[in-house]
Order: sequence, then structure tokens, then C-alpha cells
Amino acid sequence: MMNVSVIGTGYVGLTTGISLAFLGHRVTCVDIDERKIDGLKAGLMPIYEPGLEDLLNSSEERIRFTTSYEAAVSEAEVLIFAVGTPANEDGSPNLTYLFGAADDVISHLIGKETPTVLVNKSTVPVGTADTIADKIKAFGLEDRVSIASNPEFLRQGRAVADTLYPERVVVGGGDAAVQTLRRMYEVLVEQRFEAPSFAPRPEGVEAVPFMSVDLRSAELAKYAANAFLAMKISFINEIANVCDAVGADVRRVADIIGTDARIGKSFLHAGIGYGGSCFPKDTRALHHIADTNGYDFKLLAAVIEVNGAQKFKLIEKARESLGSLQGKRIAVLGLTFKPGTDDIREAPSLPIIEELVREGAEVRVHDPIALEKSRPQLPVGVQACVSVQEALLGAEAALLVTEWPEYAGIGAEQLKAWMDRPLWIDGRNAFADQYGQELEYRGVGIRGGASRQ
Ligand code: UGA
Repeated sequence: MMNVSVIGTGYVGLTTGISLAFLGHRVTCVDIDERKIDGLKAGLMPIYEPGLEDLLNSSEERIRFTTSYEAAVSEAEVLIFAVGTPANEDGSPNLTYLFGAADDVISHLIGKETPTVLVNKSTVPVGTADTIADKIKAFGLEDRVSIASNPEFLRQGRAVADTLYPERVVVGGGDAAVQTLRRMYEVLVEQRFEAPSFAPRPEGVEAVPFMSVDLRSAELAKYAANAFLAMKISFINEIANVCDAVGADVRRVADIIGTDARIGKSFLHAGIGYGGSCFPKDTRALHHIADTNGYDFKLLAAVIEVNGAQKFKLIEKARESLGSLQGKRIAVLGLTFKPGTDDIREAPSLPIIEELVREGAEVRVHDPIALEKSRPQLPVGVQACVSVQEALLGAEAALLVTEWPEYAGIGAEQLKAWMDRPLWIDGRNAFADQYGQELEYRGVGIRGGASRQ
């Protein structure tokens, strides 16, 4: 058991803190947002993440929440930074929060006798850990304080399972820091814990590879992983667009190429492109990092450009079927960037809705989780509907933007009864098998829908 503090209670920080407490450590979670900390003390989760509350309930006695840096620093053997690094206008990551937190922590490290490892989990430009190390040196603390980079690869909506059963734990840093973190992750790496019922251990997971590298490689690996996944998505989306042009089915093409182990099956789901708080920001950041270091990362620029355009393919399809969208009632189903989360950051839904409004459509939107949260961001005149039926009533087209399982349960007969024209434009190719034969169906890269033989 170790004393660990986590700075920042966003997705990554909260999941990390709660998981480490679950694994047996004594954890202090710190945030400058008093309301958030008060809520957490009262057992209120600031984010929607399946299983996280249950995990907290099973480790409550080992975790505390505070706004005090002093409390976080004084006893911690390991101090993890998990603060936001939002993008600046030029795509570069904004490190104000990270450096602000680091300065605060360092001011409390002066005079502390016992060794501390400062770990960065936020996604940061290569060299950031070295900048923090320089700050440590400037205060003459380098004998007692070491630095590590420990990138996080969890996915929203699956954060608990991704944290308990990661595909690897990556630690960048010198020997002392790496050894301390090896100890912190020992139970996880050796999978020596009883799997909770709400997050069962996947079959075949017996141990987790622990990969220790230099600081800069760890920092870059995080961006490289996200950029590669984003590239897979943009690649399959371009193949889908070619499928539309030549009359092929991207799902079949993806199945075939995915059986090649060198390519792999995952992240070949074509649609309207990636969104969320990670891929858009991290791809732009990596491009910016390469650029400022004198390298023109052309492939990544293309990945970003393709993704920017892909979401509007849905509107093109609507126009192809309906002609001008002026005055047409259109339902947009799903607002979040993917199902299983209430996050609407960089969600494709918002630019799609704005464009529909710009083209004069009468837009009605629905989301099972994020409707209230989205209201302030919806353009004037867009009707936010609490029921799917309300959104679809009298519509001439339904645009499926987020593949919430709820939408599979509607049924073709109901759609035909509710809509003026049962045109289903499926931005996620999620319901081709279900609606493809019965409705006027258009997927992305499934030309003419599943009904085309
Ligand atoms: C992503 C990565 O998957 C995590 O490994 C990483 O830790 C995280 O970013 C991060 O950097 O914090 P996340 O943003 O939660 O996780 O979501 P994903 O499930 O990866 O999906 C991202 C986007 O890609 C979604 O909009 C999704 O709809 C889209 N996507 C995904 C596709 O369009 N096609 C696919 O085949 C897969």
C-alpha cells in the first residue's frame, strides 16, 4: 500500500484515483474546483462513466477528496498530474493548468524530507517532463523529487475496464521513478486482485506488460497511439467514400482487410469521423509538435483534413435524396461523440446541426443522455426533443449521428408511421441490417443501403 495523490478530477484523474484506491493504495484526489470536490465528497460523480461509481463504493475508505495541495503533497510518495491540456487556437496544447499545478506542488515540496515521484498522466508535448524536471532543479529538489511520464490509454465509456485491464502500462523516466511506479502498479501488472462483478476480467488476461522507456518516448507514444487510431478511421472513411463511388460495401471490405493480423479488425468502422476530447486535439497537437520541431507531418495533416470533411457526407446524402433542405424537417439522432458517454466535446453532431440550419432545414434533435447538457450549444430554432418519437414525427429524413442502442429498438414500422418520409441516413452504418431492407436507407459506403445486392 502506498500513499498516492492525483491532481485533477477529470476523466483520467478520477478514474486513476478511484482505480488505485480499489487496488489497495491510499489515495488523495485534488481539484481546484470546490463544487466538484464537494460533490465527490457527497458521492456525486461529475462524469457519466459506467462502473466508476461502483468502483468508488468498493474503495471508499481508501480515498479522499480535497482542494488542498498541501494535504496532497505532504504524505504522497507518488503524485500524479492529470489536469486538462486543452488546445490553443493554433492546435498547440495549453499547458497553463499543468505548469500551474506543478508550481503549486513544488512550493509544497520544499522542506518535505521523504522522496516523491511526480508523474505526468496528462497528454503533453514531448519535453514537458524535462521542463518540470528543470523547475525541480531550480529549487534544488532533484535528490528527493524525480519525474516520470505515465501516459493513459483509457477510452470514455470503458474507462473502468481499460484501467483495470490495460494492454500495457507505460512508464518513462529514470530508474528510481520507474521502480516506484512498478511497485505502485504491481497488483495491476500481476492482476492480483479480485475482478469486480461490474467489470469482469476479460478472458486470457493474466498479466499486463509493464514497459519502461525514456521520458520523451513515453510522451510521444501517447500521441503516436492516438494518431495511428485516427489514421485508421480516416483511412476507412476514405475507403467508404470510394465504396460509394464504385458501388462496393465498406463493411465487407473492412472485414476482409481486418482478418490480416498486420492490419487488425478494430477501428475500421466507417462513418462520420472521430470526435471527442482526445483524437481531434491530439492529432492537431502532434502535427503542431512535429511542425515546431521542423518536421512536416503530411500524413497526419491529411488524416485531420479527411476527418473535418467526413461528417458533412451525411448532409450530401440528404441533399441527394431530398434536393434542397430548405424548409425540410430533419431529425438528428444522437449528440454525443460516441455512445456510452455524455461528452459532446468535438462531437460531429454540432457542426452537422449548424450546417442543416444554415441550409434552411427545420431541425429536431434527440439524445438519450446529453440533451440537457447540449441545449446551450444548439443553434436558435433547433428543437431539442425528449422523446425519439417527437424528434421523428413528420420528419423527411432521420440522420443517425450517434449509434445509441436505443435507436435499434424503434422498429421500421414505427419509423414509417411517424416520419413523413422514412429516409434513414445512417452516419455510423449501425442499423443497415435492421433497417436496410425496409426503409429508404443510406449508409456511409454502403451504396443504396443494404438492400442493394
Ligand atoms: C481515445 C482512445 O481510444 C484511447 O485509447 C485514449 O486513451 C483516449 O482517446 C485519450 O487519449 O484519452 P475516446 O476518445 O474515449 O478514446 O474514444 P474512442 O472510443 O477511441 O472513439 C473516438 C472516436 O472515434 C469516436 O468519435 C468514435 O465514434 C470514432 N470511431 C472509433 C470511428 O469513427 N470508427 C471506429 O472504428 C472507431
